[in-house]
Formats: sequence, structure tokens, C-alpha cells
Amino acid sequence: MKEAGKLVAKVFETVEPLIRPGISTYEINEIAERVIYEGGGSCPCKGYYDYPAGTCVSVNETLIHGIPSKKIKLQDGDIVSLDVVACLKGYCADATRTFMVGTCKDNVKEIVKVCKDAFYEGIKQAKPGNRVGDISAAIQHYVESHGYNVARDFTGHGIGKSMHEDPAVPNYGIAGTGPVLQKGMALAIEPMILEGRKDTRILGDGWTVKSKDGKLTCHYENTIIITDEGCEIITLTEGEKLN
Ligand code: MF3
Ligand code: CO
Repeated sequence: MKEAGKLVAKVFETVEPLIRPGISTYEINEIAERVIYEGGGSCPCKGYYDYPAGTCVSVNETLIHGIPSKKIKLQDGDIVSLDVVACLKGYCADATRTFMVGTCKDNVKEIVKVCKDAFYEGIKQAKPGNRVGDISAAIQHYVESHGYNVARDFTGHGIGKSMHEDPAVPNYGIAGTGPVLQKGMALAIEPMILEGRKDTRILGDGWTVKSKDGKLTCHYENTIIITDEGCEIITLTEGEKLN
């Protein structure tokens, strides 16, 4: 799984410097898929319930599952999330980064920061003996105390030989409830947050999930492994490990 995690991180390292006004979400996906295939991996998203691409590329009010498109070109001030799952030697890793395009307004910078920080708040609870609800409640509390909402209709998840395994890891919940965390469990923890109301809608393509009110959204995700003491994040880039 750690090797798969490194491959996912390599996608972010490759794509980040190419994020600029004018690039399409189709081109971003092409680059991401190429990194995964050249690294010997596969893209389990492709063909998953007929999903047509290897990654999801979601802009601004699109929360998740944006289908890469030549028609969707990034503009200055946008944010774009790239959700990447790679499988390597039979094991998967899953992560998402939201990148800022050019110069972004303060409210845009703020939602990106809160979403990432919510992940780190959540994983403070990721240790043996704690429960899934401890992670969920920590994420929800952090996000809501900063004036944002968490999406209700989508969750993080266990991951391993398949990209989606038990348990579900909601971004909302009650501390002290849910499955007990144990050493060796692998989880994809993924705050999905909204600037406005929590409600989402799915477009007619059957995939694209947007905020119902059209307001800004954000997504951040890593795959973690529960260790003796806490957890290890296996999808960080080399640059992120230094921070
Ligand atoms: N990476 C997503 C997740 O976190 C799954 C993408 S849905 C797919 O669960 F259709 F693209 F596979
Ligand atoms: Co995921």
C-alpha cells in the first residue's frame, strides 16, 4: 500500500506545477493517468460503475466526481481538486489535493486551508482503541466551527485490495461511536466541505456532485494506516513530508 501511496503522491508532484489558467480537466487527468501507468499501476476508478476516467477533477462548486472534460478549462482564481486512486501490486491508495489556480480570493484560500486542516484534526483521533466516530466528530466540529458545512451524502472509507472497503468514515458523527480502530487498518480520510449549505446534487451525467446552492466546495484526502501509537499517512508528497 505504501508503494501505491507513493505513486499517488507522484501524480500530485507532477501535476501541481502544470496547474494554471487554460489547462483543461481532461489534460490534468491524462497526465495523472500517465504517471500511474508508467509507474506500473492501474486506475481502479476507470470503469467503476462505468466511470469514464482514471481520476476525478472537480472545479469550484463541484465537490467531487468531476468527470475530466476538454470543455472545462481552469481560470484564474479557481480551485481544482484532483482525486487519485492508484493500485499497485494488488493494493490501492487514495488521495485528493485541491490546487489554487493563479491568484485566489481570501475566501478561496480559507476554504482550502480549513479543508486540509480538518483532515489533520481528524487524524489526531486515529489511533488504536479510538473509534471511527472520534475521527468523524473531530472533522465535523473543526469544519463547522470555521463556518463551513460537511457533506452528508459521501464518506471516507476503508481501503486495501479494493479502493472501497469497510468501514465507512463519515465526516460527521458522534465521538465514542462506531467501529474500534485497530493497528494495521487502512483508511481513506476525506473531508468534503461546503462554503454554503450542506446539500449537494448530482448532475445528469450520473457522477458530477455539486453544491446545490452553487457555492464553493473543497476536498482533501489521504490514505492512512493505524500504527501502535497513532497513524501513518502514506500518500504525502516528498515536499509535504518536509512541512
Ligand atoms: N476517489 C474516490 C473516493 O475517494 C472514488 C472515486 S469514484 C470513481 O472514494 F468513480 F471515480 F471511482
Ligand atoms: Co476516497
